[in-house]
Amino acid sequence: MCGIVGIVSNKSVSASIISALKKLEYRGYDSAGISTISNGQISEQKCSGRVDNLEKILFQNPSSGDLGIGHVRWATHGVPNQVNAHPHSSEVVSVVHNGIIENSDELRKEYKEKGYSFKSQTDTEVITIMLTDYLKKENLINCIHKTLEKLEGSFALGVIFKDFDNLVVGARRGSPLAVGYGHNENFIGSDSYALKSMTNKISYLDDGDFCILFKEKVEFYNSDKKKINKQIFELSNEDNTADKGDYRDFMSKEINEQSITTKKCINEYLDKSRNDINIYNLPIDPKKINKIRLIACGTAYHSCLMAKYWIEEFTSLDVEADIASEFRYRKIKFNSNDLYIFVSQSGETADTYAALEKCKKNQVKTCGIVNVVESSIARMADFVLPIHAGPEIGVASTKAFIGQLIVLYLLTLKISKERNDIIDDEYLKLILDLKKLPELIEETLNKQKDIQLIARDFIEAKGTMYLGRGYSYPIAMEGALKLKELSYIHAEGYAAGEMKHGPLALIEDGMPVIVLAPKDRFFEKTISNMQEVIARGGKVLMITDDTSKTMNENIRFKFQIPKTNSTINSFLLTIPIQFLAYHVALLKNCDIDKPRNLAKSVTVE
Ligand code: F6R
Repeated sequence: MCGIVGIVSNKSVSASIISALKKLEYRGYDSAGISTISNGQISEQKCSGRVDNLEKILFQNPSSGDLGIGHVRWATHGVPNQVNAHPHSSEVVSVVHNGIIENSDELRKEYKEKGYSFKSQTDTEVITIMLTDYLKKENLINCIHKTLEKLEGSFALGVIFKDFDNLVVGARRGSPLAVGYGHNENFIGSDSYALKSMTNKISYLDDGDFCILFKEKVEFYNSDKKKINKQIFELSNEDNTADKGDYRDFMSKEINEQSITTKKCINEYLDKSRNDINIYNLPIDPKKINKIRLIACGTAYHSCLMAKYWIEEFTSLDVEADIASEFRYRKIKFNSNDLYIFVSQSGETADTYAALEKCKKNQVKTCGIVNVVESSIARMADFVLPIHAGPEIGVASTKAFIGQLIVLYLLTLKISKERNDIIDDEYLKLILDLKKLPELIEETLNKQKDIQLIARDFIEAKGTMYLGRGYSYPIAMEGALKLKELSYIHAEGYAAGEMKHGPLALIEDGMPVIVLAPKDRFFEKTISNMQEVIARGGKVLMITDDTSKTMNENIRFKFQIPKTNSTINSFLLTIPIQFLAYHVALLKNCDIDKPRNLAKSVTVE
């Protein structure tokens, strides 16, 4: 993770670096720092904690200089303190780094033997020392090239040099790096979002590339030191306004806008006059697909699990859902007629990207489902389906999850239709139901207060469970993940039928348990599992579209979702589990948008 930025300009750069770092804080908030070249010297300022702290330091002690680099950290090597904060500087060079240098221990040993000493515990400092050493005997290009050649692992780097006070260097292997073009100034940043207030003209480094920014030009080099040209992309202005509006935090904004984002996404893909889905030119003719493999991490993996149920329901295809960090190292039997689908909000998740790379090397057909259309995954996949959710800033994914579900549902129906696995009448009915979904989401969002009431039951809980069967099971897993990451309460999502195979032993008097029990074909079975929990003292929050009054006296609270067809009520079940995590975290005074130890874009393994 971590976020990096670099600017070379004809005016002071520190304010622009700070504002770009604030946009990159979603990538890490353990520490922040900046280096500029001022009066012919490297001026480095850094602190533990957030960019706000750095801003206060700079207010007391302003940093001048018309070129510089900045960093926000998500700690990997070394505790998150001021010494380990980036940049890491010597007399002659200053470095910011996103990624992990896997051979840093060996390099550290080698350079210690040469007489160099280290100030921090980070893997990054070896890069500073290596550049410092090579600068003594090599020209700038060779110094950069030789240093990069010796590094193992993943990185995006920003570097400034005391003796080259007109340039900033950027480099990429495995971690993303964008280059922005301005008027008499140029930029590097971990993503285009950080650079968007300064430019809408962007290029992307590919793995192995490095670049040298001057204020009037940018030079690009590949891993053989050969000069190369880069395509320039023009960013749309559409998503420029990522602010909280009147909401307390980004997460509440992002939960509450889900009816709008859902509508937008459906509109993007639905031909309303023909009631058909506009997904064409898949990399494999749907009739010829042998099997579908879905690959992702975290919340995005839960959307893949959901899609597995849909694909099994609506098509004759075999389907598997995999966690990317496992998939990338497994002995996969690749088949050119299988379709490999990668789901990622950021489009930058290291494990998902590596899994996609593995598929590309094995020459199979790939599809990316992403929110960030300029991302590395979007650029590498053979075919891209954007989720059109707009920027998601809260670290816990909410509207992107719903967006992923929408696209996966539409893709499933389209493949099913193309393969003649579904009859026209059923296809039409499902599309008509889907068109009504944004209104039903809105109706569910309006019941936030009900969840707010029950949230109090959870703040003292040692732990909790989310139970569901069939389409509700992936949502149970997602509910548990949301509660864990936001409120730091231990939670697990279980297939309700698994309870008696072990987890039931955890139920004790007063333990809150969330039961997802829509009135689908699993309803009766889920209710039996719920009764087993109640009989052992569990306090049940039941989320259901069942309106009958039976069982009410045994249930602590019943949250009612609107009725819709059973294959899409998972969208509606998602809203209360998001609100629950949100309100429990709020009552516990947790940092809603930036939960501890996490970051939005996971660009390390
Ligand atoms: C949880 C969450 C994470 C992400 C995961 C993958 O709320 O947001 O579990 O889903 O890190 O991220 P993307 O979707 O960017 O690949």
